Amino acid sequence: MADKKAQLIIEGAAPVELPILTGTVGPDVIDVRSLTSTGRFTFDPGFMSTASCESKITYIDGDQGILLHRGYPIEQLAEQSDYLETCYLLLNGELPNAEEKAKFVSTIKNHTMVHEQLKTFFNGFRRDAHPMAIMCGVVGALSAFYHDSLDINNPHHREVSAMRLISKMPTIAAMTYKYSMGQPMMYPRNDLDYAENFLHMMFNTPCEIKPISPVLAKAMDKIFILHADHEQNASTSTVRLAGSSGANPFACIAAGIAALWGPAHGGANEAVLNMLDEIGSVENIDKFIAKAKDKNDPFKLMGFGHRVYKNRDPRATVMKQTCDEVLSELGIHNDPQLQLAMRLEEIALTDPYFKERNLYPNVDFYSGIILKAIGIPTSMFTVIFALARTVGWISHWKEMLSGPYKIGRPRQLYTGYPKRDLNK
Ligand code: SDX
Repeated sequence: MADKKAQLIIEGAAPVELPILTGTVGPDVIDVRSLTSTGRFTFDPGFMSTASCESKITYIDGDQGILLHRGYPIEQLAEQSDYLETCYLLLNGELPNAEEKAKFVSTIKNHTMVHEQLKTFFNGFRRDAHPMAIMCGVVGALSAFYHDSLDINNPHHREVSAMRLISKMPTIAAMTYKYSMGQPMMYPRNDLDYAENFLHMMFNTPCEIKPISPVLAKAMDKIFILHADHEQNASTSTVRLAGSSGANPFACIAAGIAALWGPAHGGANEAVLNMLDEIGSVENIDKFIAKAKDKNDPFKLMGFGHRVYKNRDPRATVMKQTCDEVLSELGIHNDPQLQLAMRLEEIALTDPYFKERNLYPNVDFYSGIILKAIGIPTSMFTVIFALARTVGWISHWKEMLSGPYKIGRPRQLYTGYPKRDLNK
């Protein structure tokens, strides 16, 4: 992997040879691990040019707008697979055969309940608490319940924790929603599929159990697939960093939830709907495009742009197709927010500012319109993202712990005071 070399010439010092490592696909990396011998660090705030790890899980080609999970294109998985099958693929590296899939699905289905005492955590929150605040707290609290699987060096414990998290996230997410509504929390049902069960726990009540629309369940499952993993994004990097200290998996996932909440990351789906509400009508689009371009205005076009994609986010394309399918299945034609979003995309993609910066719609631009059509409130959008991304987070956590790793501990360029005397 390292037959090529880079040479670093530092004035007044001997040249430094740095190995160049080549992956299966994608850019080569310059291995700078030996740079400390020169008494210098690399400097890369925001990690714009830094590969933090080696991974086999997901590959993104930002220029081509390609997203592969264990080599399979996201378009094929969204069209032909389902979320639990994609979870198995991300966790294990290969798609399951029929027997493996049946066992995996059964394991997930039989661990969807949470400890009854977990309910008491909710009572400490105000009913109007943001659901992501509750998710951070309650998921982190799972550490207090599963002392039997917290040895991160034990592969079986890692597997058990992964299964528990994938199984219980929909239950906890739905509990968060029910708490905010003041409705009784619904128990999971083992006779329902994963997305179907989530929608059951979200929208049914003890008074009336309605069948879940297969169209909505399939759309929900597809949204879970589209959010499952995305390489070393901010929240996944947070999970890896927390895991590198030996923190237990539930604490690591809670850290990932916290990082995802930000509007620059997973919080963007909620921010897109709020932005569309603020724009209000097509007539106001130009005003908001101008705001997005104004360097003195912090406003950004939510759901646009991406650190890696400098082309269309392939997930946005699938999401837009799903949007059309769900709205027409629901008999929602000319949805005003969809019309506004499509017009906004049209105008932005012809504007030189967005074209020069390769700013295209990302996964968050259309997802909220579908979630809203399914009946999910805006405040729950990022919770859905966290639910779906849990498999990605835990897959990267497992991958890191399955091989040699070191605690993540970046250095800095110090520009503060040199040593000075308190007594002077
Ligand atoms: C997700 O990393 C992942 O993989 C994330 C994710 C995943 O699956 O995990 O894909 C999920 O987080 C998607 C992104 C959701 N966020 C948003 O939609 C929020 C709006 N987008 C921006 O905040 C921004 O585009 C980021 C944060 C997504 C990317 O920021 P970068 O890579 O740091 O790029 P940048 O801020 O340096 O932007 C480059 C230029 C700047 O202008 P100049 O300084 O060159 O003049 O583009 C401008 C930015 O001001 N710009 C925008 C813009 N996004 C970038 N201008 C207006 N509106 C925007 N949305």
